[in-house]
Amino acid sequence: MKQTKIVDILNVEKPADTVLVKGWVRTRRDSKGFSFVELNDGSCLKNMQIITDSNLTNYDDICRITTGSALAVTGKLVESPGKGQKWEIHADSVTIISMAPETYPLQKKRHTDEFLRTISHLRPRTNKYSAIFRIRSELSFLIHKFFRDRGFKYIHTPIITGSDCEGAGEMFRVTALELENIPKKDGKPDLTKDFFGGESNLTVSGQLSAEMFALALGDVYTFGPTFRAENSNTRRHAAEFWMVEPEMAFCDLEGDMDLAETFLKYLTENIMEACKEDLELFYKFVDKTLFDTLSGIVESGFERIPYKKAVDILTKANKKFEYDVSFGNNLQAEHERYLAEEYIKKPVIVYDYPKEIKPFYMRINDDNTTAAAMDVLVPRIGEIIGGSQREERLDFLETRMEEDGLKKEHYWWYLDSRKYGSVPHSGFGLGFERMLMLITGVVNIRDVIPFPRTPGSIEF
Ligand code: 4AD
Ligand code: MG
Repeated sequence: MKQTKIVDILNVEKPADTVLVKGWVRTRRDSKGFSFVELNDGSCLKNMQIITDSNLTNYDDICRITTGSALAVTGKLVESPGKGQKWEIHADSVTIISMAPETYPLQKKRHTDEFLRTISHLRPRTNKYSAIFRIRSELSFLIHKFFRDRGFKYIHTPIITGSDCEGAGEMFRVTALELENIPKKDGKPDLTKDFFGGESNLTVSGQLSAEMFALALGDVYTFGPTFRAENSNTRRHAAEFWMVEPEMAFCDLEGDMDLAETFLKYLTENIMEACKEDLELFYKFVDKTLFDTLSGIVESGFERIPYKKAVDILTKANKKFEYDVSFGNNLQAEHERYLAEEYIKKPVIVYDYPKEIKPFYMRINDDNTTAAAMDVLVPRIGEIIGGSQREERLDFLETRMEEDGLKKEHYWWYLDSRKYGSVPHSGFGLGFERMLMLITGVVNIRDVIPFPRTPGSIEF
């Protein structure tokens, strides 16, 4: 007999004949001549109530079933008198696939997120985490759908690379050399003897490769893991995170901002539709303002302000910040959140940042002091998207690389794209986990990643 998922049973209109369900026991309680089992198979938030009666041949064993045990149940779908569920299963047979000992850590009580992080291998069996990871799955597909529907081509950019896209030097090194026995030349590691014959790292962004493909296929995107060795133990930074990076040929900064806004609205609106039941849980138990925030994103036009004005607003704000604000400094999370959460009270796009605080590839504006950069800031998170129009003029790009001390020979292929058929082009990167935090109201990035990678932690 074929297994039926609980999520599909919820949609059954009339009582079906016999069904087979398989899953894990959340709770069990006994009453005279019956034992009631709450079974969950991970396909949705709801459990299926299984009624077992004392006529079952293994009823004695059933009465010993513990939380966390795995079962296969066949039985008839009958209308449930209980609230909040349409169907329950009257069991004809219960097979105990495996019995969990009493040491199972997820006994029925509420656990803290901190505790659940120490059992990341088991936390997807809780309501909250199974919901997060179903939403994570759904959101991935929506991202692909958004781009596919608009004719963007999906490019697999390399994970191992020789270049530092963001120029921030926050890279994990990749080597096949024996750490105890590193060949040296003039006192330094001789990387010509390493696997790739030169310096290699895990990528911090797929952008430079994506640009090459935008200048061939038009509109492209990459969506994959990226890595940053920034040793900042914050709630919105992970060492391994996923980034969505569209890149568009023949597109300026305004077109870039338009796409970013349309994209965020699309994802928010569609995830609310696709994951209704799971999102309800976050509204009830995590953030009472969740649906207001999400409707705010879908319904409001994003405010767009130049960096200079943002600094102006922040210096005049009647608020004590931990970090000072002044023209030429990076905005900190507290500043970004103030702008989106308190001042404008909806998503805001800040653009035209001072060129000194932005990477080499961004297009220099006519004022020669700012770059055509844009960051999308949202309530509760701050920066969720970072993007720019790219410098398409070879001479400007070369000057900028010299100023930043980048070796031109190393980026010869990138410069080639500005020699041959260079055109205005733009793109951005959306932090996938930050989007999940926005959608669920979860405040720590560690709690939206299956097995988070953060400083000092490599378990699981
Ligand atoms: O602003 P960032 O550094 O931009 C880039 O990497 C560009 N090359 C993207 C592009 O134009 N194609 O990063 C983009 C986004 C940020 O806005 C943030 O949401 C997320 O990636 N992000 C992180 N998310 C989690 N942990 C980290 N350590 C992150 N660093 C950046
Ligand atoms: Mg950024």
